[in-house]
Amino acid sequence: MRKVPLVESLRIIGRGSSNWLANRPIVVSFEVTDACTCWCKHCDHGGPRDESRNLKPADYRRFMDALRPCVVQVSGGEPLMREDVVDIVRSIKNGDTVPYTILVSNWSHMTREKYLALRDAGIDQFSVSLDFPDERHDEFRVYPGLYRHLEDLIPQLAQLGHDDIVLNSCITTENLGEIENIAAKARKWGVNLCYSAYSARRTGCREYLPASSVQLDELCARLDRVEQRRDESNWIVNSPSTLEATREYFRNGGTPGCKAGQRFLVVTADGQLQPCSMQFKRYKLEERERMIAEFTASNNCDQCYVSIRSYLDKSFPKLLWENVSGFLSVRS
Ligand SMILES: C[S@@+](CC[C@H](N)C(=O)[O-])C[C@H]1O[C@@H](n2cnc3c(N)ncnc32)[C@H](O)[C@@H]1O
Ligand code: SF4
Ligand code: SF4
Repeated sequence: MRKVPLVESLRIIGRGSSNWLANRPIVVSFEVTDACTCWCKHCDHGGPRDESRNLKPADYRRFMDALRPCVVQVSGGEPLMREDVVDIVRSIKNGDTVPYTILVSNWSHMTREKYLALRDAGIDQFSVSLDFPDERHDEFRVYPGLYRHLEDLIPQLAQLGHDDIVLNSCITTENLGEIENIAAKARKWGVNLCYSAYSARRTGCREYLPASSVQLDELCARLDRVEQRRDESNWIVNSPSTLEATREYFRNGGTPGCKAGQRFLVVTADGQLQPCSMQFKRYKLEERERMIAEFTASNNCDQCYVSIRSYLDKSFPKLLWENVSGFLSVRS
């Protein structure tokens, strides 16, 4: 995974430190649309939605000026359904290198031209969802031809050498047996890999949550084998401690101590604040302190360990250490 240059790294660390002290979020996820091209079995989005109240590209400046995050996710629904997604990214970045900005997408609508335009607008990392290393991905996402499209496009774009593409694989009971094969696919395509953990909170379906001792043993054995492939290039983007915490999440059926609303938050497509993508109490931008007092201070939800949480449940020194030795260039 490409490391962020030194000066930029220092600026991200500086902004992160001041946000930590000022109770501003470190990561903001902009869900730029609720609509989606897929109907994934593990998700509560899917298909068309009312888009009439979506924020316009210029509206994102108000959120950026108030929240000053050091990491931004541009997500959804499916963000590439927005015709103006490049303008949204430009508005978020405003010509600056900070924040570090990740596009979280299923890539059904990705093309070479869009990839280059999004890079030019300021996307630092392309997170591409992949649940299976073959056509079973299409069945799970209910989008015929998606796997073929990824298989064709991803290696081509990886060859451009920007080292900014990360496969994002959400572990469920359905793809538990594919943990190593997905890692092999990332290597074959010349891209990076990040595992995330299924949460039953989105759909209420517990069937996809690995929980039996046989499933948990398989999960651990397969992750152990993937760990052995870790090397200096940082192609396995999860830190070892995050993968360990992912196992714990499945073992315990949850992870307490969530800081949703405080260390991270979601901005919905129509411009409301939500603590996370699976908690639907909404607040105005000016009500962020109220969200922390009302929601975060008494939040007992432990029902996910998705990436936005896994970055941020750590103490600040640990968070800094892992990013310094992972994404950022500063040598510790
Ligand atoms: C909600 S999607 C939005 C962006 C885009 N549509 C995509 O699929 O990448 C972001 C990520 O959430 C994951 N996801 C969906 N449902 C989930 C669940 N129930 N638990 C954990 N992750 C989930 C998806 O696999 C995807 O990688
Ligand atoms: S996981 Fe992403 S692609 Fe699948 S339905 Fe949800 S938002 Fe759409
Ligand atoms: S654990 Fe936190 S981030 Fe996850 S669903 Fe619950 S409140 Fe949201």
